[in-house]
Formats: sequence, C-alpha cells, structure tokens
Amino acid sequence: MTRPGSDKAHPEQGASRRKFFKFLAASPLAALAYSAWPSRLLEPVAGEMLPSMPSTEPLPCVDCGAPVLPLGLDGGPLATSLPPGLDPTRVVLPARRQELPPQQAQEEQLMGSLIESPDDATNVWDFERVTHENNLAQHWDYLHMGVDDYETRVANREGYQRLMVRPRRLSTEPATGFSTATELFGEQFNSPLFLCPVAALQAYHTQGEAGAGRAAQRAGVLQVQSHQSSQTYEEIAEARGAPHWFQIYTNPDWNRNQRVINRVVAAGCQTLVWTIDLLGGSNRELSRRSLVGEGRDSELCQQCHQHQEGYVRAMNVDPGGPAGERPPYTWDWVNRLKNASDMNLVVKGIVTAEEAELAIEHGADGIYVSNHGGRAVNSLWSTIDALPEVVAAVRGRVPVMIDSGVRRGGDVFKALALGADAVGIGRPYVWGLGGFGEDGVDKVIDVIMDEFRMVMRQTRTTSIDQITSRFVMEAKNPIMTRRNELGFGL
Ligand SMILES: Cc1cc2nc3c(=O)[nH]c(=O)nc-3n(C[C@H](O)[C@H](O)[C@H](O)COP(=O)(O)O)c2cc1C
Repeated sequence: MTRPGSDKAHPEQGASRRKFFKFLAASPLAALAYSAWPSRLLEPVAGEMLPSMPSTEPLPCVDCGAPVLPLGLDGGPLATSLPPGLDPTRVVLPARRQELPPQQAQEEQLMGSLIESPDDATNVWDFERVTHENNLAQHWDYLHMGVDDYETRVANREGYQRLMVRPRRLSTEPATGFSTATELFGEQFNSPLFLCPVAALQAYHTQGEAGAGRAAQRAGVLQVQSHQSSQTYEEIAEARGAPHWFQIYTNPDWNRNQRVINRVVAAGCQTLVWTIDLLGGSNRELSRRSLVGEGRDSELCQQCHQHQEGYVRAMNVDPGGPAGERPPYTWDWVNRLKNASDMNLVVKGIVTAEEAELAIEHGADGIYVSNHGGRAVNSLWSTIDALPEVVAAVRGRVPVMIDSGVRRGGDVFKALALGADAVGIGRPYVWGLGGFGEDGVDKVIDVIMDEFRMVMRQTRTTSIDQITSRFVMEAKNPIMTRRNELGFGL
C-alpha cells in the first residue's frame, strides 16, 4: 500500500517486495536476468539469495495480489499443474522469456546507438552513429569536422549546457490552445525549427536535398538550400512541391552572382541567405588529413566522382560558387545583393552586435547568427552566447535566426527565450538523412519537436511568443555529460 500523496512504500510493502524478488530470483531464468536488474532492486535481495533449487510455490504479486508462478528454464511456467486451492482464473502466468534490455543503455544514451530504423531513435545522436557506420570515411569526416581543435564546436554545445531552464509548474489561468506556429517574412511555418544550408547532401544519401526537402515540407519547417548542394534549386523545389530559401556564396565576378539570383527567383525563391563567415577561410584539418594530401584529385575520390571518361558525378551542382581567394568584401555587397532582386536578404554568420547593426544599415532583412557549426573560425564563443548582444542591437527591426550546436528541443527553447525567431539544425538532419534518407529526417525533426513541446509544457508556455528570457538563467558551469573521446555526441 502506498500512502496518498507519497511515493514512498510502507515498510510492510518493502518486506513483501523483497520476498517477491527473492521468489523471482529463485527461478532459473532469473540468473540470466540478474544483470539486467537495476542495482537498487538487487541490493535488498542480495543477502537473502537462495541457492539453485527453484521454488514452485506461487507468491502474491506485491501490487495486485494475484498469485504469480515462477518461470521454468524453457521460459514457460515451472509448475505444470496448479497447486490445490488456487483459482486458475486468478493465477498470473509470468511473461514468456523476453529479450533482455540492452546492457549498455547508459553508454548508448551518451554516445548514440546503432539503430535499425528511425523509430528506434531516442535522440539525434542515434542517427549520428548510423550515419558514421553507413558512410564513406571521407564524407563522414567532412560532415563531422570542426576547425583547428574543435574549440568553437565544443563551445557551441557548452553554451547551451550552461543555460538552465526556469520552469513554471502552475499558471494563473488554465492553459488554452497550444501552438508552435512561426512566421518569417509573412510565411507561415509549423515550427521555429529549420534545416540549415548544408553542402552536397547526396554524399550522405542518394535522396539528397530533395529528400530532406520533402521531410521539411511534411513537417512544415523551413528548408534553406546550400549554394553547394548536389541537386539544383528546381529539382528540390519540385520534390517539395513548393519553393524554399536559397543560400548564396558570392563570387567576385558580379555577373555570376546575378545569374544565380535570377535563376532561383525564376524558380520561385523569395528569400536569399548570404553566408559571410567563410570569407576569411577556415582551417579544416580533418578534411585535409582524410583526403590524404591530394584533395578531391585523389584516386579514391576520382574513382567515384569521375570513374570513366566523360562522366562526372558532381559533389555539388554549384551554379557558379566561390573560386580561389575571396576578395575583400565590403558592406556595400549587402546593398548590392539586396538590390539584385525582390527577394528578402538574410545575412548568415553574424556573431557581434556591431555587425548586426551594419548589416541592417546596408539593407539586410534578416540576421542569421551562426558560426557555421564551428567549421569556420576557431576560438569563437558559442552562438547562443552571441545571441543576446545581437538581439539587443537588432531591436526587433528584423527577424533573428540562429544555428550551431542545436541538438535538443531544449536548445530550441533556450534560443527562442533569448530572442531568436527561428532555430536551425545542420548536422542532426544530415545524420537522419545519412542513416535512413528522408524517413530519418522526418524522425530527427519529430524528436527535436517532441523535446521542444515538452519544455514548453514544463514552462507552461503555449505559443512561441510566450517564450521569454524569464525562462532561462545562466549556470556557473556548463553541465557537460557527453564526452567526445570517440568523436560522437557533439
Ligand atoms: C557538412 C556541412 C556543410 C555545410 N555547408 C554549408 C553551406 O554550403 N553553406 C552554408 O551557409 N553553411 C553550410 N554549413 C553550415 C550550416 O549551414 C550550419 O551553419 C551549421 O551546420 C549549424 O551547426 P550544426 O551542424 O552544429 O547544427 C555546413 C555545415 C555542415 C556540417
């Protein structure tokens, strides 16, 4: 019996539980199962464990009182005929032999596990492990890498882990309605989550950007296509059945930029994203090592990408992307890009207040806080740390987007609380795609949105605009539970 309002068991119940576990322990099958029992359950019976002879007497279940028979070695009930005096309709036959729960659950929780279907995923890192397993090492390295010593990549996660949630248990009025709907430039989305521009998605799954796009469309989330995608804007838009946003890497030859812009406008694109955080270059050591010095000219790459005369399997279908040294771009380029079409212009890669201010002054319609997922500049602070000063500088004039290191619905919540309007994931959806194609992307979005909705319920917020800075606070130290020794879990 349990006292009302308490989850502590009565002493009699404790004794009865111990007896019950002792009884179960006497079953030969239990020897197999001991290792799966939580230690808190084993401790009370450890001292009282009976030797090998199993009992055939039933004992009452501690919860419902029904007599339970012990299991035989074949997994069926040990007693073939019921002891006299037992009502057969009330006897519980224990479940037949079942597969034991995984012994390495704790390790898998922290490192991800090799799941066989998207539905088996517990969190986004489960997809990371599968994509690692499924993909060519060089492609994996390109996806995984950070620059230099990964300081910015690690900082991105630490930033979120240093922020604590301030929950709200009860509210003054009963909650009515619940929505994660979000609007950007007059466009409606089901969620503030979006898919970041990531290059060459066919390196991870033949469905490529089109597969990711179909998943995004199903979930009602924004997709931003990379300039270096493996499929064209038109192919992706057709697969989705709707236009999406396009990210551009500018070329010193303005005509090439204009041609790209004209092409995506003709296909229905309404928002252009200019990425500026790679303009100074990036030290991508892992990629250099994994391509063994010859880069894409290596035999390994050529065998796949150019394995017969006249055949080129593109890494991307870049319709005129960056080539060679980047010229010293000026803020005037924001005006030029803005004036090149009627599209909205978002500047991606802003991490300081002064650059947010300058971008808006020069015509940006949106600010996108990003450090390229730690793939551009080393020793940066996390984007979630940069967000408050950018939001303060923007003063609500334009939407603020953010990405880098977002892995949990709780991270989405924290970013919104600190003033972001939309929150992007890069690697996580590519892990989903690399593991299971678009079904994997569906599930990655679902997992993060389920987590996000839970944090909304825990804070009793029922719409995106209710998520404010009162729901987060900074802790003294990051709570880093995931270790990255094997390269997973960042
Ligand atoms: C493999 C890979 C390729 C990327 N390619 C591009 C790109 O072509 N254009 C771009 O603006 N950002 C690119 N990014 C950066 C993402 O848009 C985004 O900023 C970053 O992935 C977010 O961090 P996260 O991976 O930690 O979620 C790329 C990121 C990855 C992982």
